Amino acid sequence: MVSTLSIFTTVFLVPVLASFILNIIFQKPPADHGKGTMFDLIASRYDFINRALALNLDIGWRKVMVKEVTSDGNLFLGTEPVRVLDLATGTADVAILMAKEYNQKNSEHISKFQNIDILGVDPSANMISVGREKVKKENLTDKITLDLGDARNLKDLESDFFHAATMSFGIRNVPEKQQALCEIHRVLKKEEGDVKGAKFGILEFSEPGDDFGIMGMGARLFIRHVVPVFGALLSGAPREYMHLQNSIADFPSPKEFANLMETLQCGDKNTGTFRVDDVIQLNFGSVQLYLATPIYT
Ligand SMILES: C[S@@+](CC[C@H](N)C(=O)[O-])C[C@H]1O[C@@H](n2cnc3c(N)ncnc32)[C@H](O)[C@@H]1O
Repeated sequence: MVSTLSIFTTVFLVPVLASFILNIIFQKPPADHGKGTMFDLIASRYDFINRALALNLDIGWRKVMVKEVTSDGNLFLGTEPVRVLDLATGTADVAILMAKEYNQKNSEHISKFQNIDILGVDPSANMISVGREKVKKENLTDKITLDLGDARNLKDLESDFFHAATMSFGIRNVPEKQQALCEIHRVLKKEEGDVKGAKFGILEFSEPGDDFGIMGMGARLFIRHVVPVFGALLSGAPREYMHLQNSIADFPSPKEFANLMETLQCGDKNTGTFRVDDVIQLNFGSVQLYLATPIYT
């Protein structure tokens, strides 16, 4: 009984108090919010902190996204190499999972696939450089290229080019979400008549609603207080991790975000929106996987 109480105090009560205090000290978001340089500070410890705070569950969420976006391997069947864009690629976790999924499916398939080109973009030079090391270690440099890039302005990328795109825990960091979604829409192949559109998967946190009961409440408490406090301690970058908490609280509800995707106003040159095909709830409603297809309107 005593030990249960002390575990509860350590895991929940202390972080709740600490997060209230830290939130008062670090009220404002970091000045470079949306530019990626904020992540330069924590790049070398990012993977370790992620795994520790998400209790390794984050790997499973990314795997679900890769399976869904590739339609369990069907994306790789085709007459040309598959082009995949991973936005806010960070340390390249998703890009690496995508390449491994390709290799796995290719080894199981009777005739060989046409190859895959995965481009990961991120504005944080340090995150990219950690990612490049990981890609090298995994021997995947023939499949993955990592470049500096901002989701709000993909000026170097051709329109209607990619067969699929992913973005995990990135869109929350972009203040101009509509602008980023319009750019992503521009570079993806659109659905037109019988021609299949690209698949776009976005993974993002939100605070679980009441329909997830006690588990949802626990997840809410964990995200709101435990993650930012332990993140601040482990990273030594308290402003950045307090911002994480606030950016999750400020992120639109799943319904609102799906609506934003479906009602994009992208200007004369790019008329279209996304059709949200599914919103998959993970981790007691604290993580959503949005699956969408770019369409013309
Ligand atoms: C929480 S990390 C996610 C990284 C990776 N996708 C993952 O799942 O681990 C958020 C990433 O978003 C990037 N980011 C911030 N602003 C961005 C922007 N305007 N466009 C694209 N990426 C951005 C950051 O540099 C950072 O690497």
